[in-house]
Amino acid sequence: MNIILKNSWKVMLFVWLVAQCWLPASSETVLITGSNQGIGLEFAKQFAARGWTVIATHRRPETPDTLVALQQKYPDLVQPERMDVTKKDEIVALAEKMKGESIDIILNNAALIRFAPLRDREGNAGQLFGTLDYDHMDQFMHTNVAGPLMIAEEFYDHLVAGERKLIVTISSAAGMVSIAPRSADHYWYRITKAALNSAMRLLAVELADEGVTVVMFHPGGVQVESFGDTVLPGAMTPEEAIGKMMKTIDGLTIKDSGRFLQNDGTDQPW
Ligand SMILES: NC(=O)c1ccc[n+]([C@@H]2O[C@H](COP(=O)([O-])OP(=O)(O)OC[C@H]3O[C@@H](n4cnc5c(N)ncnc54)[C@H](OP(=O)(O)O)[C@@H]3O)[C@@H](O)[C@H]2O)c1
Repeated sequence: MNIILKNSWKVMLFVWLVAQCWLPASSETVLITGSNQGIGLEFAKQFAARGWTVIATHRRPETPDTLVALQQKYPDLVQPERMDVTKKDEIVALAEKMKGESIDIILNNAALIRFAPLRDREGNAGQLFGTLDYDHMDQFMHTNVAGPLMIAEEFYDHLVAGERKLIVTISSAAGMVSIAPRSADHYWYRITKAALNSAMRLLAVELADEGVTVVMFHPGGVQVESFGDTVLPGAMTPEEAIGKMMKTIDGLTIKDSGRFLQNDGTDQPW
């Protein structure tokens, strides 16, 4: 008996060490939409590197290679899930699958930006005056506005059960209405980002009593794979831009709810 008591601290240390190996490093969870490339993928990488559980959602029929690789690197933390943000059944199915689990941060990143490469005017004519494609407008609205709203509705229980209770939405300066755009292009992208900001302001008011903080970011110009060969002048790397937003997210409180932010936490004009 004495020997057991004398060694009990060793037993407890052993049990603690085993628990560290088996339990996830952190109980904090982020759900990211459109996490298979660009800004969403970099958020997934940086949250996983911090030890967060990352529900890394995408819209592809198969798990994209980028997320397979990330899951291999962080098998206990990264959970790729299919969720097209325009498909209510897929949103409901994931919310149901995660029933009883809390989510600290919902990160609305997925967006429809354009259908053709950046500099392909013809391919993007559906977003230009004179050739506006109103079927395209529906797709933009469903992706950029309805998607984040459906997610807020369906994951509401998970969010209010979390510690952080934070909805972070990646918007864009393209949605600004107080300052005229330099050129009248990307009609549907610009219009739907303005509508998205309006939707998030409503959510900020709606969910204030539950202690949910809702913010929007203009991430800055970020050089992502989908730009192809086009180099955006002055653009940051995803590592830099997301690093700045992660720092800003760390400091957010309910007092920030409803704000439209630049990546460093200063105000972005509406
Ligand atoms: N990069 C910039 O300079 C910049 C500037 C301002 C704002 N933003 C904003 O930052 C966010 C990310 O943009 P990004 O530059 O990283 O673009 P991106 O590389 O084109 O990534 C967009 C992501 O959204 C996903 N997506 C599109 N429609 C979806 C749907 N219906 N369901 C689920 N996922 C969907 C895409 O999936 P697929 O791979 O399957 O297409 C992709 O993963 C967007 O909200 C964008 O408006 C970016």
